[in-house]
Amino acid sequence: MDSLYWVSLGAPPTPVRRLEGLGGDVWLKDEGAYGDGGWGGNKVRKLEWLIPEAHRRQKETIVTVGGLGTNWGLACALYGSEHGLETVLALIDQPVDGHVEAQQERLRASGAEIHLTGTKTRTVVSVPWLLASHRKSWFLPAGGSSPVGALGAVEIALELAAQVEAGEIPEPSYVVTAVGSGGTAAGLVLGLELAGLGTKVLGVVVNDTLDLGSKALLRLTRKSARLLSDRGADLPDLDLSGRNLVVVEDQIGDGYGHKTRAGTSAAGRASKKADLDLDPVYTAKAMAGLLELVEGGGRAEGPIVFLDTNGPRP
Ligand SMILES: Cc1ncc(COP(=O)(O)O)c(C=O)c1O
Repeated sequence: MDSLYWVSLGAPPTPVRRLEGLGGDVWLKDEGAYGDGGWGGNKVRKLEWLIPEAHRRQKETIVTVGGLGTNWGLACALYGSEHGLETVLALIDQPVDGHVEAQQERLRASGAEIHLTGTKTRTVVSVPWLLASHRKSWFLPAGGSSPVGALGAVEIALELAAQVEAGEIPEPSYVVTAVGSGGTAAGLVLGLELAGLGTKVLGVVVNDTLDLGSKALLRLTRKSARLLSDRGADLPDLDLSGRNLVVVEDQIGDGYGHKTRAGTSAAGRASKKADLDLDPVYTAKAMAGLLELVEGGGRAEGPIVFLDTNGPRP
């Protein structure tokens, strides 16, 4: 039977702390702190599983896709090259601001081979050609959100459960995360079920170019669970019907990469009150979703964890 391999790229556990000044009982789990290379955040957890899987498949090049300011592509290039893997990126247009320009600078310096394919259609069409024109190449979906990649977020959930068990944080009613390609939310759903926590995942969708509804996310959750079983894990009976997943799609605004008023305001408040530095594409919109949960009509009860998935390094 094939096993699953894992390589350490950071120092777990990521810290948890209470965030004052945001109303409600809000906590932070700081995934931005994870990763010992030149970039951190939730992509590093995925690469801890994806890099050894690439080696197991005897691949030398990862071909993948993302927006012009892709955090995933940058993490893939930086951590991949440390482990003998080339990265080839096909990049789709997104609104360019200072944040994206800085990221493109980092991408150019990362050693990745970059193709500006522009539209989604041109990107999809160019992938087979990129795969054929590189040695031992392997395609990974946007955001590294394959069943293997999502295991990184299963670990985040198990780590959170251990922190609850140790009394570092009360059992949350919700964990809030941005949903850009789905792997983080899908893996959290599986990990929380495995840990036996009643915590729900609030997935705040920030990308309108992929199907990231709850059905699609749960398909990925189930594929990751099947992968674990196929590779030898003895899983308990799991309820993967989606009872612990809530997906909201009302924070996207004009689309992927477009700032929203709610996101900008949430990021300003998080910076001023809780000393959090949020990015406009993902975490600002996720924080807007969290504030809606805390202050909106439904008003969630109980502690809420904000997963900060953004990992720039000074
Ligand atoms: C900073 C940041 N937060 C959140 C996400 C969303 O994670 P996922 O792609 O697993 O949905 C991404 C990537 O898409 C990201 O770069």
